[in-house]
Amino acid sequence: LKSSEDTPSFTVKSYACQRRTPLKHHNTFLTEALEILAENAEFGENEGRSVAFRRSASVLKALPYAVRQMDDLKNLPCLGEHSQRVIKEILEDGSSREVESTRQSAQFQAMKALTGVFGVGVRSADRGFREGLLCPSDLIRTGQKLNKAQQAGVQYYDDLNRPVTKQEALAISQIVERAVNSVLPGSIITLTGGFRRGKEVGHDVDFLITHEEEGVEEGLMPKLVNWLDEQGFLLYQKTTRNSYLESKDGPARPPNNMDRFERCFSIFKLGQCSEDSSAVLETGSDDSGTTDNVNGTTRQQPGSSWRAVRVDLVVSPFSQFAFATLGWTGSKLFERELRRWAGQEKGMSLSSHALYDSKQQRYLRANSEEEIFAHLGLEFIPPCERNS
Ligand code: GTP
Ligand code: MN
Ligand code: MN
Repeated sequence: LKSSEDTPSFTVKSYACQRRTPLKHHNTFLTEALEILAENAEFGENEGRSVAFRRSASVLKALPYAVRQMDDLKNLPCLGEHSQRVIKEILEDGSSREVESTRQSAQFQAMKALTGVFGVGVRSADRGFREGLLCPSDLIRTGQKLNKAQQAGVQYYDDLNRPVTKQEALAISQIVERAVNSVLPGSIITLTGGFRRGKEVGHDVDFLITHEEEGVEEGLMPKLVNWLDEQGFLLYQKTTRNSYLESKDGPARPPNNMDRFERCFSIFKLGQCSEDSSAVLETGSDDSGTTDNVNGTTRQQPGSSWRAVRVDLVVSPFSQFAFATLGWTGSKLFERELRRWAGQEKGMSLSSHALYDSKQQRYLRANSEEEIFAHLGLEFIPPCERNS
């Protein structure tokens, strides 16, 4: 036996997509701290720094033991000098001064509160903070110009910051299934995002929709959105092309049918879920006393019979379905690492649409996630172990 009992020896591969990362792990007290620093770096738009902290945290999530001393970190990849310094301080003193002062700083707290509003990104939050805004209600109090998304974000702030449960996700699934089957029978609907990775709660519910008959999914999103809206299920929606389409030098661009790939950011109105998980669905045609008009915005009252839930809908042509499934399952770091692996180790370019092999100068087809991992020379990692 090489390692003694108090210094576990465990090899960890350096790319997150090469290793299994369960949802529950043994080093939460360290990963939460590192992720505060990652988040703070994101608020400062320092992407390199934020990714470095996220990678360090992710390595600790993959360990089958709790780190107790610096020796436990021997031979682990991705742990930069700064992360190690933070970890050392936490192991020795119980907390890190840098992490605690970040957590308590007015700027971090304001950025967290302001970016917590749907539609408010890091840029606008930062502008707001520099103008003296500290919390979502300051957005209204100071009469900030808000776009439609931000107005909805303020209006449904409390609901949207309350975690969505698995039960609520399943109730939303039933609605989406009904809607999709009314506008395009035979469609395939997959729950993606955090819930596919086995999370018990989420900040939203993500769906990917396709149809075996290539091409019939064209125009599905507007029909779907119309149906949902007519039935009173939508509090807000914005349909856009997938963001990948906009970046010219982004990852692999499939030769055609790119313009069919659509996504819809929405806010659903979900009737109260009963204990037995069967949703009691309400339609929005009659707001019988459950809402109250405040300052021109409709605010929900406590004890209301419905809640607002963020829902993401994506429609993909069948030929891209495996890539879309992989791309929308996450975690965000797992996705980023997959693309980095493809580019740096394989000379390939991976997106939610396709996989391009630069050496062979051709697109590699795949009908399942398993085939994509195989093309990439990676061991298949099931969704519940992609919680990097
Ligand atoms: P919670 O929603 O917080 O529970 O976690 P989540 O992992 O579901 O996060 P989220 O809903 O934000 O994202 C789900 C997946 O969709 C992640 O893998 C993201 O990388 C991916 N995703 C989010 N936005 C985009 C986008 O604009 N384009 C593509 N292709 N993928 C995206
Ligand atoms: Mn999600
Ligand atoms: Mn989402």
